[in-house]
Amino acid sequence: MKQILITGAGGFIGSHLAEFYAEQDKNNKIIVIDNLSRAFLFNQEISEKFLYNWKYLHNFENIQFIKEDLNNYKLLKTIFNENNFELVIHTAGQTAVDKSIKNPYIDFKNNLEASFKLLEAIRISKTNPKIIYCSTNKVYGNKINELPLKEVNLEYKLKNQGFEGITESFKIDQTQHTPYGTSKVGADLYFQEYGYTYGLKTGIFRMSCIYGPRQIGMEAQGWISHFIISALNNRLLKIYGSGKQTRDILYITDLINLFENFFKKDVKNEVFSIGGGIKNTISPMKLINILEELLNKSISYKFEGWREGDQKYFVSDISKAQEILSWNPQISVKEGLNLTINWYKQHHTLFR
Ligand SMILES: NC(=O)c1ccc[n+]([C@@H]2O[C@H](COP(=O)([O-])OP(=O)(O)OC[C@H]3O[C@@H](n4cnc5c(N)ncnc54)[C@H](O)[C@@H]3O)[C@@H](O)[C@H]2O)c1
Repeated sequence: MKQILITGAGGFIGSHLAEFYAEQDKNNKIIVIDNLSRAFLFNQEISEKFLYNWKYLHNFENIQFIKEDLNNYKLLKTIFNENNFELVIHTAGQTAVDKSIKNPYIDFKNNLEASFKLLEAIRISKTNPKIIYCSTNKVYGNKINELPLKEVNLEYKLKNQGFEGITESFKIDQTQHTPYGTSKVGADLYFQEYGYTYGLKTGIFRMSCIYGPRQIGMEAQGWISHFIISALNNRLLKIYGSGKQTRDILYITDLINLFENFFKKDVKNEVFSIGGGIKNTISPMKLINILEELLNKSISYKFEGWREGDQKYFVSDISKAQEILSWNPQISVKEGLNLTINWYKQHHTLFR
């Protein structure tokens, strides 16, 4: 039995984690906190699809719900005074690059300020849980775009032989990050710092693209989900840039297994580059081809210019996580896409 706090559990990753720990042991006590702001962060009317994950978690009796903003520091202090968490997973945040460019203050408040308050509340509570922070590949900024690339089968690959992916030691300074990348790198450094200075047991996971069922994707964020929803609803897709931007994608259950390994192992204050790795790469154009095959229909799309801050290539070198956390992605791109598409087919009325 353990007590776990999950922030952002009304969202994609947080809700899967809450479900996992609720099912793992009926005696686990899971507290979830979310202000249900995803719809508003994307300037959309709150609708059934944005409440889906939050309502879904009400199927589990051992989950306790707090609908509140993480910037409510007083509440955070009370939560940590009244509970003795073994694990805190921080997934809450503003997740879209273009929204952060349009409104950097909202991005700062939800990503950096909220993360700082969470860390402070943990520090002064004198409890010492394992703490997982969902960081991002955007912390590496557009320095990544200086890597020499070649085009192979609708994807980019690195020209340099033997260099397959981006490691945790890739430069993060003197590069444009976008406001989103900046707020996330700020929080990433705070999670590291609270490990060094105050002994907090942090794990910082710089994630590439995570995908799977229950991701409420939109053009601005959650592109795999957005492509599937658009394809199923015969909507025209916009392809920004060349459409060959390459990402290593990771299926949600593989991410959960990774976090669970971090929780169980005697590892703390480490940074990990996380994604599906070199074996699980995909680009928008490649995804369109796969979807056309799996859905047996043609998909309409048109090209637009490049989006600000877009990395042409991001593939994580996951060897550190493989070694230290005894972890390997289990779900291939095709398997993961099949599982994901099936869920959207079953829930298509949410996305009409
Ligand atoms: N999904 C990915 O591919 C991916 C990749 C890299 C990093 N990340 C990071 O992982 C985390 C989770 O991503 P996701 O895809 O589940 O996003 P999501 O938008 O589905 O979930 C985030 C949740 O946080 C909540 N939230 C935002 N600000 C809040 C606040 N101030 N107080 C309380 N709740 C708040 C939102 O309402 C939402 O439910 C994010 O921090 C994101 O930056 C995600």
